[in-house]
Amino acid sequence: MTDVSTDNDVEEAAALRAAMVEQIAARHQALGLTLPAVVERALRTVPRHLFTGDADLNTAYQNAAHVTKRNELGKSMSSVSAPWLQAMMLGQARLKPGERVLEIGSGGYNAALIQEVVEPAGSVTTIDIDPEITDRAQRCLMDAGYDGVEVICADAEDVIEPGRTFDAIIVTVGSWDVPPAWLAQLAEGGRLVVPLRTWGLTRSWVLERQDGALTGRHHETCGRGDRPGPRVRHPPGRASPAA
Ligand SMILES: C[S@@+](CC[C@H](N)C(=O)[O-])C[C@H]1O[C@@H](n2cnc3c(N)ncnc32)[C@H](O)[C@@H]1O
Repeated sequence: MTDVSTDNDVEEAAALRAAMVEQIAARHQALGLTLPAVVERALRTVPRHLFTGDADLNTAYQNAAHVTKRNELGKSMSSVSAPWLQAMMLGQARLKPGERVLEIGSGGYNAALIQEVVEPAGSVTTIDIDPEITDRAQRCLMDAGYDGVEVICADAEDVIEPGRTFDAIIVTVGSWDVPPAWLAQLAEGGRLVVPLRTWGLTRSWVLERQDGALTGRHHETCGRGDRPGPRVRHPPGRASPAA
């Protein structure tokens, strides 16, 4: 973990964090997005350098993803996502104090941001398939004082506990589709925020559960995905015959 032991280091971290938030706010403004005050406050509060391993302070507060695990070929297996993206998805989720939130894909930092927004009555559960990542996230969360976050190691394609539901589910791993478990775990009126990849583009979708089904609310383009997809020009859709 980055050593931030002197008063100067603490001040430098706070200044870099403030600069990162200004960049995120400016990006939101340029795109016509709203950065909710609760999310901005969380970004100003959570010490990101406690979640970025040995990275120096400048690197820890870049407005960019920070890779925390690579495979033997050097491919990224896990990261602390880019803060502009986390801020955008938290805004899309319209989180409120007191809500129960499930984060899919753990890095620790985003779970801490969510905890800042929903506390004291709300709860945060984060789930990751890789035990190395959940161990690391748990350690970082404890070190940063967010020991109330529940960290689970399991495949998020499966239901965590039958009957348990959340007011919001935020998926932080690129997805091709929505597994049935995500709908099953979403409370009525709850929001699922998920980066869906289609035709080489990733769009962060907001899907709301209504009458037991998901309704698409809106989406924001958030990346090109990690493989260059075919650029598809598609004709307007034809209504499918009634089932
Ligand atoms: C971008 S990282 C998560 C970033 C994190 N939310 C943060 O604080 O920035 C994506 C994570 O998703 C995890 N993941 C991939 N497939 C998964 C699955 N089926 N179930 C649970 N976790 C999964 C990976 O192990 C990886 O750690």
